Amino acid sequence: MRVGLDLDFAAAVLGRGRLVALPTETVYGLGADATNDEAVARLYAAKGRPTFNPLIAHVKDVEAAGALVEVDARAQALMERFWPGPLTLVLPRRAGCEVSLLASAGLSTLAIRAPAHPFMQGVLKTFGRPIVAPSANLSGRVSPTCAEHVRQDFGDACADLEYVVDGGDCALGIESTVVSIDDDGVRLLRPGAVTRAALQTVVKLVDGFVNGPDDALGHASPGLSRSHYAPSLPVRLNAREARPFEALLAFGDVDPTGFAEVFWLSREGSLVEAAARLFQGLRRLDHAPLLGIAVSTIPEEGLGEAIVDRLRRAAADRD
Ligand code: TXA
Ligand code: MG
Repeated sequence: MRVGLDLDFAAAVLGRGRLVALPTETVYGLGADATNDEAVARLYAAKGRPTFNPLIAHVKDVEAAGALVEVDARAQALMERFWPGPLTLVLPRRAGCEVSLLASAGLSTLAIRAPAHPFMQGVLKTFGRPIVAPSANLSGRVSPTCAEHVRQDFGDACADLEYVVDGGDCALGIESTVVSIDDDGVRLLRPGAVTRAALQTVVKLVDGFVNGPDDALGHASPGLSRSHYAPSLPVRLNAREARPFEALLAFGDVDPTGFAEVFWLSREGSLVEAAARLFQGLRRLDHAPLLGIAVSTIPEEGLGEAIVDRLRRAAADRD
């Protein structure tokens, strides 16, 4: 696998139906030509992802989205406010939608997002077709926020991943917010980089139903299984006292005395900084001879909703 920052090469690899790891403003994505069934199948195989877990199609802009999915007034308003950016919309596929049916995993809907990252925008323009890209980690592992994380997961073992684009650290560090829009209303399926409050400045959200970590697989957003963001070590939330050989993901005004190792999500208690450092911290502390990862309490407001969502999944019983 090559590592670099070559737009034309990235587009050429995609054009041959092979995989490219691409930086976005949220996390790194494992990209494939969304219109090529074989390429999408290679992507599922490379990730070890169950094929019932559908993918996000990345597009350049609202116009490109309109060719693939039905964009009603609610979707239009959300796209205009948050695109390009970290918001994914689950919308009905249009008749003749060129995105592989495999990417929708048997659903009549397609998840779609226009990412803001300049390299990703460049690839979308040069390549000229939509790109499906799940987070570029092995299925069930923590999402990658730099090129090195991608290399850690895939090494040289995956022949189909021909190119890893090194675009540095992801600015946001946590995945996009996923909402579905249908006759029942606009529903938050996955809390993410666009906060609930920000969404509510544009649309009314249907109450109640976010796929929590206790939901069984198979609800509205099939990817949100319980232990979806799991490091190898057990994760313990709202920790105050250290247990033997335990590391701490520290946040804000806490005393880390007694913990075997400490990774600061944010000393100042900044949720933006904590989101950007979360997956890096989970990876960094996931090693022997540590026996567990403790996490300080993080307020569940604003971006904290997405951070705590990921941490709960990391802490959930392993299937
Ligand atoms: O920030 C992100 O969204 C990153 C970057 C690379 O764009 N991508 C990402 O993709 O997180 P992935 O595949 O790891 O997560 C996509 C989520 C999954 O939870 C999946 O189940 C859900 O979106 N999803 C995709 N298509 C769906 C659909 N048609 N209906 C409901 N949920 C869907
Ligand atoms: Mg993922």
